Amino acid sequence: MTRAATSGPIECTSAPAASVEADVLIVPWFEDEAPAAVPGLDAATGGDLMRALESREITGRPYEVFLARVTDPGWRVRRAALVGAGPVASFTGDLARKLASAAGLSMKLKRVARAAFLLRADVASRIDPVELGQAVAEGLTLAEFNAGTYKTSETAPTQAPSWTIVASGVPQGRIAPFEDAVRRGRLLGYCSNLSRELCNEPGNSLTPREFARQSGEIVSGSGLSFEALDEKEIERLGMGLLLGVARGSHEPPRLMVIRHEPAGAPPGPVLGLVGKGITFDTGGISIKPADGMERMKDDMAGGAAVVCAMRAISALNAPVRVIGVVPTTENMPGGRAIKPGDVLTSAAGKTVEVINTDAEGRLILGDGLWYARKLGATHLVDVATLTGSIVVALGKITSGLFGTPQAWVDLVRRVADRAGDRVWPMPTFDEYFEQIKSEIADLMNTGGRPAGSVTAALFLKEFAGGLPWAHLDIAGTAWLEETRPYLPKGPSGVAVRTLAELAFTSAEWV
Ligand code: BES
Ligand code: MN
Ligand code: ZN
Repeated sequence: MTRAATSGPIECTSAPAASVEADVLIVPWFEDEAPAAVPGLDAATGGDLMRALESREITGRPYEVFLARVTDPGWRVRRAALVGAGPVASFTGDLARKLASAAGLSMKLKRVARAAFLLRADVASRIDPVELGQAVAEGLTLAEFNAGTYKTSETAPTQAPSWTIVASGVPQGRIAPFEDAVRRGRLLGYCSNLSRELCNEPGNSLTPREFARQSGEIVSGSGLSFEALDEKEIERLGMGLLLGVARGSHEPPRLMVIRHEPAGAPPGPVLGLVGKGITFDTGGISIKPADGMERMKDDMAGGAAVVCAMRAISALNAPVRVIGVVPTTENMPGGRAIKPGDVLTSAAGKTVEVINTDAEGRLILGDGLWYARKLGATHLVDVATLTGSIVVALGKITSGLFGTPQAWVDLVRRVADRAGDRVWPMPTFDEYFEQIKSEIADLMNTGGRPAGSVTAALFLKEFAGGLPWAHLDIAGTAWLEETRPYLPKGPSGVAVRTLAELAFTSAEWV
C-alpha cells in the first residue's frame, strides 16, 4: 500500500469568527451557556440558536451536534455546527481532543470541503490555550484516518476537509507558541494514524519483512537511523526467544532498530522503546480458537507505536537520544515450531521453559529489552498487546501500566494522561514471581490464569536488568470493537503520543 508522506497543514487565524472563510464553523458548546456566549452567532443564524436552546434541541452534552445555517451576509461561513462540550467546569484537554475528532469525523462524513474550529480558549480557561491547540489539532487529524484500504467498490476514500483553527481567546502574546502547538498536534495525530494503518494491514500483507520495509519507509528522511537485522544477525546476537517463536513460521523474523541521536544531545540518559511486533498470532502449537482469531493481525500494535513514535520524536527534535527496538515475527504452528515443554535460552542468558506457545509476546520482548539495554538505553518502556488478562481487568478503555521504580511509572502515567492514552497502574509485587518459576529452567513463560497480566509483566522485568522500566499492556486498547463518537472501530493508534511526549520529559527522569 502507499501512504501520504505527510498531511497538509492546519491553518490558524486570530481573525474574528465572522470573517473566517469556511463551509462549516465548529463551535464547542458548553452546558448552560446563553445564546450570547458566542457574540453575534445567534443573530447570524437568524435566532435559530436561541430557538434550539429553548427547545433543548441543544443542551451541550458531549458530542451532541446541532447544525444551523448562517444567514447573515456579514459572516463568511455558511453553517455553524455546535458540538456539545459538557460543563465548562469539567472540560479537559482530553475532551477537547475527542470533540475535535468527533467534529472531524462528522465533517468528513458530510463531505465538507473547508471547515473551521472555534477554539473558545477564553471560556475553556481551565486548560492552557497552547495545550488546547495541540489537543484540537490531534483530534482533527485523528478523524482523517481511513480504514477501507482494500475496498474496490468505493471510488475514493472520503476526503477529510481542510481545517482552520480560529484562535479565539488565545492571548496575543501566546499566538506563536499556539501555532507551534497546532503543528505539533498535527504531527502527533498524523503519526498515530500511521500506526493505525500498520495495525489495519492484514497478516498476509504485513509479514515481518514487510513490517520492517514499511517501517523503514515511515522513518526515512527524518534523520533517524534504521536497521532491520535478519535471522542470521538475530542468531549471532543469541536471541533464542525471538528465534524460538519464529521457528513455527516460513516467514523469517526481523529485529528493527531505530535510533534518534540529535546533534549535541548528552550521551545520557537514553530512552529505550521496545514494541511487540507479532504480525500474526495464531497461538502456535497452543493454537487459539478460530473465533475472532482474525483480530490477531494487530498483535504488532506495540511495535507500530514504537516505529511511529520514533518518527514523531525525530520530526519534533526531541533533545535526548532514543532507541526504538521492535522484534517482529509471526507466531505459527509450523512443523519446526516450538512445543510446550521446550526450553529456550535468551540473549540475556536466562533460560525459559515454554509452557504455552501462545505466550509469545513476552518471549520476543525479553530479547528486545535486553538489546535496548545492550545498545545503551538507560530508561525503558515497552508496549505490547500482551495478555487477554488485561482485557478482563481493564476492558477496552484503559491500558495496564506496570513497572519500577514508582517515580518512572508515575511519570509515564502523567504523560499518558496528557496524551489522551488512558492507563492505570497495576502491581508488580515479588510474590507473584513464584507463579513463573520453572522446575527445569530459570523461568516459565506463563504463570497460570490468576493475575495473568501481572505475571507477564514480571517475566519482562527479568529482562529489564534493574533499569527504570515501564510496561504498557495495550491488548484491550489497540483495537476498538465498537465505534465511539470520537473514534471509529478499528485500530486506535494507542501509545504513539505517549511514547513521543515522553521523549520531551528527560528533566524529570529518575
Ligand atoms: N496477543 C495475545 C494477547 C491478546 C489477547 C491481545 C486478546 C489482544 C486481545 C497474546 O500473545 C496471548 O495470546 N496471550 C495469552 C497468554 C496466555 C497463554 C498465558 C493470553 O492472554 O491468553
Ligand atoms: Mn499469543
Ligand atoms: Zn500475541
